[in-house]
Amino acid sequence: MSAEPPSPADATGPRGERIAIYPGSFDPLHNGHVDIITRGLGVFDRIIVAILLNRDKTPVFSVEERVAITREVFRGQPRVEVDTFAGLLVDYARRRGAPVIVRGLRAISDFEYEFQMALMNQHLMPDLETVFMMPAEAYTYTSSRLIREVFALGGSIDGLVPPVVEARMREKRSAGLLHP
Ligand code: PNS
Repeated sequence: MSAEPPSPADATGPRGERIAIYPGSFDPLHNGHVDIITRGLGVFDRIIVAILLNRDKTPVFSVEERVAITREVFRGQPRVEVDTFAGLLVDYARRRGAPVIVRGLRAISDFEYEFQMALMNQHLMPDLETVFMMPAEAYTYTSSRLIREVFALGGSIDGLVPPVVEARMREKRSAGLLHP
């Protein structure tokens, strides 16, 4: 006999708002991220961009820099909040009263990792939904890792990152802090 389907998750937060968390490393924020956040604003009342505090990795941009950059890009958009989190994403979502996680899905290659994470998060918190959003086709090949590598080697990232990110990357490269 098949198991009872779970009751549908309530996609609204405590104040009846549709809140979604958009978690990630954002090292750096690129236009694919900006596109997903912008699309998310069409579906949710509020998007919390949650930047992972990952002490194992050595990022190009500190968490403080990534928060400042993201706030700058979404300055004037009060429905975007920028925050940081450590530990399990599901615990953070519970603390923030957000019933939805948004993740961008660029290509089949993203799918396996994203599917695993979504199902693990569902195992840990059955009423937390993961919603996948597709970026504009122009950003399907954009990733933070490639942006770091291309820019460190002197290539152009024009049009792939917000101007503030390009300016900050230039500063890092001049200071010798950007390596492929
Ligand atoms: O931008 P990224 O690096 O692909 O984002 C990955 C992120 C931050 C969403 C993921 O690593 C995460 O949620 N980390 C928090 C720890 C956690 O909850 N791990 C279990 C996820 S199944």
